[in-house]
Amino acid sequence: MLPNRMFPQTRLRRLRMQPFVRALVNETTLSVCDLILPVFITAGTNQAVAIASMPGVERLSVDRLLGLCQEICDLGIPAIALFPSIDTSLKTPDGKEAYNAEGLVPYAIEQIKKHYPQLGIIADIALDPYTSHGQDGLIDGHGTILNDETIKALVQQALCCAKAGADIVAPSDMMDGRIGAIRQALEQHGFKSTLILSYAAKYASAFYGPFREAVGSSAHLGKSQKDTYQMNPANSNEALHEVAMDLSEGADIVMVKPGNLYLDILYRIKQSFQVPTFAYQVSGEYAMIMAAIQNGWLTEKAMIESLIALKRAGADGILTYYALEAARWLKNRSI
Ligand code: PBG
Repeated sequence: MLPNRMFPQTRLRRLRMQPFVRALVNETTLSVCDLILPVFITAGTNQAVAIASMPGVERLSVDRLLGLCQEICDLGIPAIALFPSIDTSLKTPDGKEAYNAEGLVPYAIEQIKKHYPQLGIIADIALDPYTSHGQDGLIDGHGTILNDETIKALVQQALCCAKAGADIVAPSDMMDGRIGAIRQALEQHGFKSTLILSYAAKYASAFYGPFREAVGSSAHLGKSQKDTYQMNPANSNEALHEVAMDLSEGADIVMVKPGNLYLDILYRIKQSFQVPTFAYQVSGEYAMIMAAIQNGWLTEKAMIESLIALKRAGADGILTYYALEAARWLKNRSI
């Protein structure tokens, strides 16, 4: 292991004395290439509605999103992840709007691909923005989540997004067996290059609150929980089982969510599997840091530090609502 290093022969502070040497021995680099911006989309035109619990984040109509895409491309952010805020009138118990080829998400994908073909598009696969009960899956009369019936809907949703031009489909629902079913359907329908980013280790976290406000699912969900499908925050070994299964079913990339509170899980997964691994800095983690920054209790460097922590733990890509600001910060950075 480590040699027996003694003071004063070794003074580790020598390596920290000057900016040039700190730069040379720097172990982890956050780059714009690591960033993915999640964006909330809404119907209509010229809409930009602030989300109170997520400072700096807005729900955008597709025309406004196209404007933002120019900036995203100029900054060099490789990809965005789309999350729809669907009108309540379109929400049903079966969430069938999720696979309406004329729906908001397919339309957004088509428009972005038309104007910015080089920008990677990640389409979230889950029913919660579309169900009248706010769950990610279909439910029976007792509110029980029906795994296998849900998979059929997810497969349709994934095909719908792939047809519209999504580069990556990202199932975030945590049903068992959905990766295999989606992979098989993509193969059968000729979408051999469509990537699957699996939310493999997704925890039943209280840190999704602001997101649920943003997509308008919290009122529908009420007091119901997602504990029967999302993971128990106390578990770690189980995350490795989830990842192993999703990889064997055909996932290309796996994800840990939330990211910042689950660095140990991220580290274990990266060490164990050595596959492309993403982390999602979720809405509550973002809100927590941003609120402190807005109060003057933290500086913006706190946000950059939180992103570097994700990289250090093993993240290859990071979904963060701070992606634009982080990209700007990285651009202006000098040692
Ligand atoms: C739902 C989904 C959620 C998030 C992404 N996809 C919320 C949930 O599981 O209830 C959360 C993202 C965030 O909090 O930023 N399929």
